[in-house]
Amino acid sequence: MSESVRPVRGATVREDFNDVRAVVHYTKAAHALGLWESERILVEQFFPNKAAQLLEAGCGAGRVSVALAEAGYRSLHAFDFAEELLAQAQSLVIERNVNVTLFHADATRLDKCPMLSGLQFDGALFMFNGLMQIPLRRNRRRALRSMAAFCRPGAPLMFTTHDREDSPAERVLWRLEAARWAKGKQDPILREFGDRYYEEDGVGRTFMHLPVREEILADLKATGWTHQYDEMRRRISAEPRKVRDFSDECRFWVASRTGD
Ligand SMILES: C[S@@+](CC[C@H](N)C(=O)[O-])C[C@H]1O[C@@H](n2cnc3c(N)ncnc32)[C@H](O)[C@@H]1O
Repeated sequence: MSESVRPVRGATVREDFNDVRAVVHYTKAAHALGLWESERILVEQFFPNKAAQLLEAGCGAGRVSVALAEAGYRSLHAFDFAEELLAQAQSLVIERNVNVTLFHADATRLDKCPMLSGLQFDGALFMFNGLMQIPLRRNRRRALRSMAAFCRPGAPLMFTTHDREDSPAERVLWRLEAARWAKGKQDPILREFGDRYYEEDGVGRTFMHLPVREEILADLKATGWTHQYDEMRRRISAEPRKVRDFSDECRFWVASRTGD
């Protein structure tokens, strides 16, 4: 009898980020890497006010929030749903003696989060593809909608995704994958076309949805965000080897909270 296949869910992703391999991987990056140059350039451009109240979703072990605090941002709230990563972020905040309010929350259920009650942010970030690690488009849209609910009109949101149409090689691979889906022969653990679930040495298992540009534009429009900017990372900065070893090429997105 064949083993039953369980599709990837939010709980699977959370478990994978709490795995010791992921915790070590993201903690090392939080300690040693800090902001990528592309992140630094765009943060300076779109988040020029260091007194702004900022919300970071999927903060992991604190790589981005701690670097922002060290760069002078004074009002930072950051959350993650992986408790083990959040504990690492907390210890880095203490070690670096910076001010970041960390809390546990699921980006798809921010309305249920007591820490956010009554707060309104001047900007939000969901860096290094965290939004795309939420299985199912309706859940990614839920996360975008709930972040919009806690941001003032005009507030910027920055995030990154892959782009499955970025290179000719990727387009060929995804055409082959589309043929598998058309015949119902895709990996049964996957739930939507564009999903991947893979294992890497030293990182563990990763779920990632790889979108096309039009998909993100439609998701932003449907969830209370107005597209402002998007660009592939290599066109913003040629990142050093250590950043490219940690992270693949990605597309940066900035949207602003649509006015009421
Ligand atoms: C690729 S890691 C990036 C971590 C960190 N931002 C960094 O750049 O090093 C993505 C993060 O998003 C978090 N994440 C994914 N889905 C989430 C959700 N639904 N709610 C909260 N955090 C989530 C994961 O736990 C993980 O820490």
